[in-house]
Amino acid sequence: MEPPQETRRRLQEVGQAQLLRFWDELSPAGREALLGELRLLETGELRDHCRRAEEAYARESGSPQRLGERMMPLPAECVGSVSRSDREELIRWEEEGFHQISQNKVAVLLLAGGQGTRLGVTYPKGMYSVVLPSGKTLYQIQAERILKVQQLASEKQSSRCTVPWYIMTSEFTLRPTQKFFEEHKYFSLEKSDVIMFEQRMLPAVGFNGKAILERKDKLAMAPDGNGGLYRALSENRILEDMESRGISYIHVYCVDNILVKMADPVFIGFCVSKGAECGAKVVEKAYPAEPVGVVCQVDNVYQVVEYSEISVETAEKRNHDGTLAYNTGNICNHFFTLEFLKTVAGTLEPRLDYHIAIKKVPYVDEEGNLVKPVRANGIKMEKFVFDVFQFAKNFVAFEVLREEEFSPLKNADAADKDTPTTARRSLLWQHYRWAQRAGARFVDGNGCQIPENQSISEMEDPPAVCEISPLVSYFGEGLEAYLKNKDVPCPFILDENTAKGLCV
Ligand code: UTP
Repeated sequence: MEPPQETRRRLQEVGQAQLLRFWDELSPAGREALLGELRLLETGELRDHCRRAEEAYARESGSPQRLGERMMPLPAECVGSVSRSDREELIRWEEEGFHQISQNKVAVLLLAGGQGTRLGVTYPKGMYSVVLPSGKTLYQIQAERILKVQQLASEKQSSRCTVPWYIMTSEFTLRPTQKFFEEHKYFSLEKSDVIMFEQRMLPAVGFNGKAILERKDKLAMAPDGNGGLYRALSENRILEDMESRGISYIHVYCVDNILVKMADPVFIGFCVSKGAECGAKVVEKAYPAEPVGVVCQVDNVYQVVEYSEISVETAEKRNHDGTLAYNTGNICNHFFTLEFLKTVAGTLEPRLDYHIAIKKVPYVDEEGNLVKPVRANGIKMEKFVFDVFQFAKNFVAFEVLREEEFSPLKNADAADKDTPTTARRSLLWQHYRWAQRAGARFVDGNGCQIPENQSISEMEDPPAVCEISPLVSYFGEGLEAYLKNKDVPCPFILDENTAKGLCV
């Protein structure tokens, strides 16, 4: 069977006939699969996509553009801070956030369509366990934080409320994520309040501008970046779903931050109080050259500037008080109003530029052998979720403490940062601090008190291992009832069962 002449002709016209290179060898099923994939791609779009990728690669592989002259730090009035704002203000924001949650106006949206190539697992990152004493996965931790924040908001306002959980997946992550949630009975959330949808995939392109075959009968495809969110929202009618539930505010976050505060009432309350349509949580940079994006203004427009776009001089610029001028590190943790998302998804999305990611893309060579390249060989085109900041008229940033809110899982343990070990330690240190603050006395197997050891750095395990279930405490609140003046053996898991035994 020849491929429909039409397909061959279309591909030849746009210089992509190599995609049918192995046609004669394919089984009927393989031919059907390949044709099916090709039919989904509009040929003009395929041509533009490959051309764009090739041009962007040529442009970006030259010397990076520096934005120094055009950059300005965020205006002070649009930045709030956990450490610098006054206590009463923080409490007011938290109350406002809880109020909005209790009125069913807040949703969380998880970006979980990534392939997690650096971590190197074959399943969605949310299913990963960093080997906490409880064995919980990232998805379970997040689900339990939603349950807890719902409970706290309900108690404060004496009315039951729901925080719907929207999960953007991709071809790689949708089915395993669905199965995982089914197997775990949605971690006790209502199934109808967990809404999964899929982002688009785009062909990976070789440096020569040709789309890559991953198998003889399959194109190499990659999700279109976390900024694929906006297109996915409209294609899957997600904003209509939000509207029908009465949602006004959406907290968007990445799957890999083990410390993420789901639907954080303080952040939500801050953004709502400021009348913002778009907001970003930020952390202070750890050091001037830290490879994180900086939230700032470029030509008076809000933007995240990548570290590669900043010169050393700009990165090291300091204010009078000695702090870094560009200190607002982006942690991919955002606030949007539904109205803002409607405008973006409705009209502005096509104006978002693609970024290129140079990756190792497995492919079939001329002889039809499957090759796993050792060096990057392909271009993936991605949009970024934060690129919509440019459209915001009222934008705010909220600075939080890194040790309390940001520890991403990006790499396998061989790397020196953002690994399963660093993520586990960040969480265990946080829980150790919460327990200490609540008055716990940690004891060893002989009943002897484990001293607080000031000299241990957070690069090591805390002196006592104690994991606190999100179902018991969302952010360290309410622990005195279980831990004050108690001898706590370790390792220790404070969950609903052990909490019952400790409660006086
Ligand atoms: P990363 O940029 O860290 O990518 O994603 P990744 O896919 O998780 O990991 P690598 O780069 O392959 O190692 C940041 C967040 O954006 C989501 C990820 O799931 C993660 O939560 N993401 C990324 C998407 O939802 N879609 C994408 O196309 C890319």
